[in-house]
Amino acid sequence: MEDNNRLLSAMAEAGDDEESIRPRTLNEYIGQDALKENLRIFIKAALQRNESLDHVLLYGPPGLGKTTLSYILAHEMHTNIRVASGPSIEKPGDLAAVLSVLEPGDVLFIDEIHRIPKIVEEVLYPAMEDFCIDVMVGKDSGSRSVRLDLPPFTLVGATTRAGDLSAPLRDRFGIVSKLEYYTNAQLESIVRRSARVLGVEIADDAVSEIAKRSRGTPRIANRLLRRIRDFAQVLNDGVVSEEIACSALDRLHVDSLGLDEVDLRYLRGIIDRFRGGPVGLEALANSISEETTTLEDVYEPYLIQIGFVNRTSRGRVATEKAYRHLGIAMPGRQNSLF
Ligand code: ADE
Repeated sequence: MEDNNRLLSAMAEAGDDEESIRPRTLNEYIGQDALKENLRIFIKAALQRNESLDHVLLYGPPGLGKTTLSYILAHEMHTNIRVASGPSIEKPGDLAAVLSVLEPGDVLFIDEIHRIPKIVEEVLYPAMEDFCIDVMVGKDSGSRSVRLDLPPFTLVGATTRAGDLSAPLRDRFGIVSKLEYYTNAQLESIVRRSARVLGVEIADDAVSEIAKRSRGTPRIANRLLRRIRDFAQVLNDGVVSEEIACSALDRLHVDSLGLDEVDLRYLRGIIDRFRGGPVGLEALANSISEETTTLEDVYEPYLIQIGFVNRTSRGRVATEKAYRHLGIAMPGRQNSLF
C-alpha cells in the first residue's frame, strides 16, 4: 500500500486556493471550445451506454489545463480520479500497482506520459485495450505469467510532447486532442472568475493587463493574479487597480507581452551571440545555461506562436518582430526599428 501511495495520489481535497479556483465542470471551464463541445458529446454517449469514457490523450504546452480537464472528466463521468506521473512509473510492477487499485469507471490520469519507459508501455497496451495485465509471479525458473483482469477505466494521458509518444501507444487513445493557447478575452474571463473565487476586487483595466501579460496561459494568469493580490494587500487597500497591477508586474519582471527573464535571455542569446540565427537549440541552450527540453517545451512554443522565433531546418532564427520588441536594429537594415 505504501508503494501505491508513492505512485498515486487521489483527488486533492478542495479547500486551498489552488483547488478552489480550479473549475470543476465543463460549464465552468473557459476556452478550448471545440474540445469541450466534443467532450460533452463523448461523455453523454458513454453515460447513456453505461460505459467508461474512451481513453483520452491531451497534449500541448504546460499550464493550459490538461490536469484540470482530467479532473473535470472524472467529475462529469461521476467517477473518481487517480493521479500518477510518467517518471514515477519506472517498472511494470509500478504500473501493476497503480492499475490494481482502480475501481470500475475510474479515471487514471498519467501526467508526462511520454516519460514512461518502453517496458512499462508494453504492459499498458493490453490494459488499455482489453482491461487486463500479465504479471510475473514467482522467482527464477519457477516464475510464470498470470493474467489479471482489470475493471473498465479511462486513461487520461497528458504530455507536452505528443511526438515523443510511440505510435502504438498514441493509437490506443480513442480521443486525442491538442490544447491551444487562450485568447486575451478568454484569459480575462478566467482572471475575473479567479478573482471572484478568491474574493479579490479588481479593476477592468487590471484584468486586461494581466490577460495581456499571461502568454496565453491560465496557470500564468492565476499566478500573476495571486502575486498582484499580495502587492495590493500590503501596499494598498487590497483592491487591485490598474496602477497596482502594472507596478507589480514590472516588479515581477514580466514585460508588456508577458515575456520573462528567460524569454529575454533566449532572444538576446540568438541576437547578440548568434547574429540573429540560425542557431542550433543545443548551442543556444548552452550559451544561456538552460536545459534544451525546458526551452523546447516551455519557452519556444509561445515565442513561435507570437511570431518572434522561427524554427528552420538550420536552427532557430529571431524575427524582425523580436528585434523590434527588444528595441534592437536588425542587421543589414537601415531604420528597421520602426
Ligand atoms: N482556471 C484555470 N484554467 C481555467 C479555465 N480554462 N477555465 C476557468 N478557470 C480556469
